[in-house]
Amino acid sequence: MASGTSNSRPTLDTIVALCKRRGFVYPAADIYGGINGIYDFGHLGTLMKQNIRALWISSLANKRGEIVQIEGALLGPEAVWKASGHIDGFHDPMIDCKACKKRFRADEINLEKGCQSCGKKDWTDVRNFNMMFKTELGALESAASTAYLRPETAQSIFVNFKNVMSTNRVKIPFGIAQIGKAFRNEITPKQFLFRMREFEQMEMQWFCKQDNAPEEFASWTEQRLGFYKALGINQDRIRIHEQTKDELAHYSTSALDIEYEFPFGWKEVEGVHHRGDFDLSEHSKHSGKDLGIFDDETKESYTPDVVECSVGVDRLFLTFLFDAYQEDEVEGEKRVVLKIHPAIAPIKLAFFPLSKKLEEPLRKLYEFYAQRGISVQFDSSGSIGKRYRRQDEIGTPFCITYDFDSEQDHCVTVRNRDTTKQERISIEKLPEYLGF
Ligand code: GAP
Repeated sequence: MASGTSNSRPTLDTIVALCKRRGFVYPAADIYGGINGIYDFGHLGTLMKQNIRALWISSLANKRGEIVQIEGALLGPEAVWKASGHIDGFHDPMIDCKACKKRFRADEINLEKGCQSCGKKDWTDVRNFNMMFKTELGALESAASTAYLRPETAQSIFVNFKNVMSTNRVKIPFGIAQIGKAFRNEITPKQFLFRMREFEQMEMQWFCKQDNAPEEFASWTEQRLGFYKALGINQDRIRIHEQTKDELAHYSTSALDIEYEFPFGWKEVEGVHHRGDFDLSEHSKHSGKDLGIFDDETKESYTPDVVECSVGVDRLFLTFLFDAYQEDEVEGEKRVVLKIHPAIAPIKLAFFPLSKKLEEPLRKLYEFYAQRGISVQFDSSGSIGKRYRRQDEIGTPFCITYDFDSEQDHCVTVRNRDTTKQERISIEKLPEYLGF
């Protein structure tokens, strides 16, 4: 049985090492030395991200209105980012150390203390650094060909607002959800998947009447907190931080951060923002296309308000890993276990034949699950104890061992990751026992 659960929390290095060792995440272009703030996901990471995306989409369902989805382009013309305010307002303060040439975000360091790298106090002026990646489309360099990689997925939703309304028969209030890449040229990408230059966002823009926006904001906050609770996130490590006026992004009327207590402090995982009618009004003004809608009740046109829920897939992925990672002792041996919610676990079931001779009959059971789209692994090498450890480390909720008795009694041993308890279950009853 598992005993002596260690209370000490994993460090960032522990999580990075686990991710690389077990193939969750690799540095992008690893064989060329990697690229700062950009990562590739391996098999387990890919499966886990797919689970996170699917759970997020289903978590948006509500009785107040419909949610439709889009998948917008990553590149947008300069006009979009001018209208959205990102060209003028999406920057971080940057400062360089003249002595060692290291670059910092000026709001993240104490300038009085001197350079973190060389200790000197020889700073450049603070300059504003726009965080968008700029590029040129085609062969001609002109204002018309300038494009930017999107720094938030939200703008694809705002510029498609009319298209979505006219093709989906939706009525206010309703939401448009999107999962996709976003790009920010962070001055100092750090803490692994926490602050990246290329990352993925899951955003939902909820369009509602202005009068209802405060109530919708409260409902969405509650619904989003429910998402973390349902997926087993330690509730002592989740809190809300209401943004002060100084912290608000240029588009926000009010906003709060859902924060998680990482080993490097309380940090935002998700933002809930009331964006007012800022985006639709600005795009109406700049594009010359009226994005207002007609209210059948009042017989007047109005521009809806937006309540936005925005979370990074990668940052959430990191949160789940930090929250689930534990070290305990099983039969006198240290084990690393990811006590991650089964719905998020990349592998749901692992199959172990006790001997090579038993591989063939067990393969049938393995294929039964694999063909139903359940992510499974088959492992026939090493002692059963070692195979358990391999699965514990990647968070597999159940391991199934097929032994010589299984041939006769048509039962398998099912071992539970969290309790390490083993039960003999008839193969016929397995789906009922496991719940899938
Ligand atoms: N549309 C609103 C928006 O983009 P944000 O607070 O800038 O708001 C929303 O970002 C979420 O996106 C964050 O809470 C975080 O989860 C994720 N995110 C933002 N920047 C990120 C980065 N550099 N690396 C990883 N995730 C990031």
